[in-house]
Amino acid sequence: MKFLVTGGAGFIGSNYLHYVVNKYPEDYFVCLDALTYAGNYNNIKSLEGKENYKFVKGDIRDNKFIDQLFNDEKFDIVINFAAESHVDNSIKNPNLFADTNVLGTMTLLNASKKYNVKRYHQVSTDEVYGDLPLDRPDLKFKETTPIHTSSPYSASKAGADLQVLAYARTFGIPVTISRCSNNYGPYQFPEKLIPVVISKALNNEAIPVYGKGENVRDWIHVHDHNVGVDLIVRNGRVGEIYNLGGHSEKSNLDVVKTILKHLEKDESLISFVTDRPGHDLRYAIDSTKVEEELGWTRTYNFDEGIKETIDWYVNNQEWIEEIKTGKYKEAYKG
Ligand SMILES: NC(=O)c1ccc[n+]([C@@H]2O[C@H](COP(=O)([O-])OP(=O)(O)OC[C@H]3O[C@@H](n4cnc5c(N)ncnc54)[C@H](O)[C@@H]3O)[C@@H](O)[C@H]2O)c1
Repeated sequence: MKFLVTGGAGFIGSNYLHYVVNKYPEDYFVCLDALTYAGNYNNIKSLEGKENYKFVKGDIRDNKFIDQLFNDEKFDIVINFAAESHVDNSIKNPNLFADTNVLGTMTLLNASKKYNVKRYHQVSTDEVYGDLPLDRPDLKFKETTPIHTSSPYSASKAGADLQVLAYARTFGIPVTISRCSNNYGPYQFPEKLIPVVISKALNNEAIPVYGKGENVRDWIHVHDHNVGVDLIVRNGRVGEIYNLGGHSEKSNLDVVKTILKHLEKDESLISFVTDRPGHDLRYAIDSTKVEEELGWTRTYNFDEGIKETIDWYVNNQEWIEEIKTGKYKEAYKG
C-alpha cells in the first residue's frame, strides 16, 4: 500500500516514519512537509535512501499541487499529521491556524475524495474536548465527550475534525480520527514544555513555568501514540474516533521537577511567569475503546520514558543547537 504522511518532518510525524518505514518494508511511504519553522529535515534525514520511502516538500494548503501529487502517486492511505501545533502561536496568529489546520485538511479531504483513497486518517488532539476540573480525578474525556474548545489551536483542530466527519457522512470517505493527549519523546521542537525545560536546564537558564504550574496533562510517549495511529489506520472501524492517552497525569510543575532531578539541577531555576490566557486546567483521556477494540497498550510508563527522553536530548545537543542557530533550515538540500 502507498501512504501519504503529511507533517512527517515534525515531532510526531518523524517518529511515526522511523517506526513504520522499518516495520513495513512492503508498504511505501511518501512524506509531505512544507518545512515550516517547526519542520526539521534533520528529524528524517536518516531515512534518505530507504527503498520504501521518499520526501516531497510541499504545502497541504496548495490545492493545485496536492491534486497533482494525488494524481501522480495514487495513494491508498492518507495520514494527516501536518498542522500548526503550538497553542502560544495560535494566540498570536489565530488565522494561520484556521488556514493550515482547517483549510489544509479540507484540501487533503477533497483530493482523497477525488482519487478514492481507501483510508483518510486525521491526527487530532484531546484539546478539542476543552478541559477538566483539577478536583475531579474521576472525570476523563471519552470519544462521546462534546467538543468544547479553549484556544484558537484547539478550535482549529476541532474544525478540522468536524470537516473530516462531514466528508465521511456526505461523501462517504472512509475516515478515522485519533485524539491523543500530550506527547513527549525525541525530536520535539524546543518550544514545547519538555524540550524547553531540558534545554534551559542544561544551560543553567531560568525555566519559565506558566501560573503556579498546576495545569495537569496526561503524558504519553510519542511511540505509544504512533503504535495507536498505526493500529487505527490498519484495523480501526471507518467513521470512528479513537482516544489515545498516556494514563499518566502530571502537573507541569511535577514534570519540571522530575527533569531537574534527573539532570541534577537546582529547583531555583524555576521561574513562574504570567499564565497563558485561557490556559486549560486538566486533560485526562479514557482510551478504553482503542484498548478493547484494537488491543492497543502502552509500552512506556512516564518515569522510564521521561528519563530515556531526557537522555536523548542530552546526547543530541547538536540537534537543539542547530535549531537555536537556525542551521537546521539548511538540512534539506532540495
Ligand atoms: N505534540 C502533541 O503533544 C500532540 C498531541 C496530540 C495531537 N497532536 C497533533 O499531532 C500532529 C503533529 O504534531 P507535532 O507535535 O508533531 O507538530 P509539529 O509542529 O512538531 O509538526 C508539524 C509539522 O507539520 C508541518 N506543516 C505545518 N504546516 C504545513 C503545511 N501547510 N503543509 C505541509 N506541512 C505543514 C511542519 O513543517 C511540521 O513538520 C498535529 O496535527 C497535532 O495537532 C500533537
